[in-house]
Amino acid sequence: MFISILASVFISVPESGVEGSGVEESKVQSRKLTAQSKSRRVKGPEARGRVFYDLLQPLNLGRDNLNHFPLLFVVCEHTRTFVSSFLKKRQIGRTELEVNEVGYGAMHLSIDREKRPSDVESIALIQRAVDELGVDFIDTADAYCINEEEKGHNERLIARALQGERRGRVVIATKGGHKRPKGRWERNGRPEYLRAACEASLKALEADHIDLYQFHAPDPNVPVEESIGTLVDLQREGKIRHIGISNFSLAMLKHIMADAEIVSVQNRYSVMDRREQDEIVDFCEQQEITYIPWNPVGGRGNAPEIGQMFGALGEIGTAHGVAPHTIALAWLLGRSPIMLPIPGTRKFDHLAENMKAPDIELTSDEIERLNSIG
Ligand SMILES: NC(=O)c1ccc[n+]([C@@H]2O[C@H](COP(=O)([O-])OP(=O)(O)OC[C@H]3O[C@@H](n4cnc5c(N)ncnc54)[C@H](OP(=O)(O)O)[C@@H]3O)[C@@H](O)[C@H]2O)c1
Repeated sequence: MFISILASVFISVPESGVEGSGVEESKVQSRKLTAQSKSRRVKGPEARGRVFYDLLQPLNLGRDNLNHFPLLFVVCEHTRTFVSSFLKKRQIGRTELEVNEVGYGAMHLSIDREKRPSDVESIALIQRAVDELGVDFIDTADAYCINEEEKGHNERLIARALQGERRGRVVIATKGGHKRPKGRWERNGRPEYLRAACEASLKALEADHIDLYQFHAPDPNVPVEESIGTLVDLQREGKIRHIGISNFSLAMLKHIMADAEIVSVQNRYSVMDRREQDEIVDFCEQQEITYIPWNPVGGRGNAPEIGQMFGALGEIGTAHGVAPHTIALAWLLGRSPIMLPIPGTRKFDHLAENMKAPDIELTSDEIERLNSIG
């Protein structure tokens, strides 16, 4: 009853401004959008979905206690699923995986012993992200930990947080190819190392397969074909569903595309720091490869100050009533339809702020201003 009332509210509102009507059609449309047209953000059922998400927040409070009220629990679950279906989605590569436009990078829950939250706090944050904000894409790595002995810390947190039905609502992307001796970051792309790393990630994630396994960084001491070849073997064995790469140059990406179907590239990129990445983004767009920018809101060092460091971000944020970080993310989403940012944070409020980015409609003047800061 409650669901059908909600459904009638959505159905009765005209679809003005939405590109394409049916789900299939809008999927095709979104893949065809140019960076320019995509930057004119659509308003429509997705935006209404977010409004409902906000209205539904009280239903999420004390969600675990709802287990004592089965009927209310069922209503909340169905409502949440229904509302989620109205949030805008992006396809990962040409795969069957479709996720919300902004994901979550979980690295900061693990890599700094002094600053990271307790495991209990981290697990609660992940659960609230999924339940209250509809986060359905989480980026992690075996190397998100403080040293080699703690390998898989971040993956284990995610597995614990998503135990039960939450697991089915989230695509998890992990990575292998980095060691952490005494907290240092050391590359290792040897086949036997990558195979063992993947097996360890499966164990840490309590999974029988990994949705998206990314080679963390090319190892200068190992031919890249050997590293990627191992991932292809793991894919054939069903342990990896899809292969992504990280910290690759365009030449290296082109080189290994003959050996494997690469569905995503994770490199450093933001409106403030575009370096030589623009041409990789353009290439990924042509090839329908998802681009996952790390450091999307400036990284640990710069994030607290980006509004001051880049006046345009602060001013445009004020005009839209959001943080400069949200504007940085909105710019990324408008930059290309293959962009899937994964801002990292230890704070729920920051995460909630970041998840507003898909609803920000930047004007062409604002985009032009932002284009000039990187
Ligand atoms: N493939 C790679 O080599 C690689 C490298 C680095 C990162 N990554 C991945 O990419 C993800 C994102 O990169 P990143 O975390 O380094 O960079 P980032 O997302 O640009 O910046 C993270 C920093 O921004 C702050 N922050 C986030 N949202 C904020 C907001 N709304 N307001 C104010 N501060 C905010 C966070 O602080 P608070 O905790 O205080 O919110 C955190 O210190 C990582 O989590 C990780 O999953 C991959």
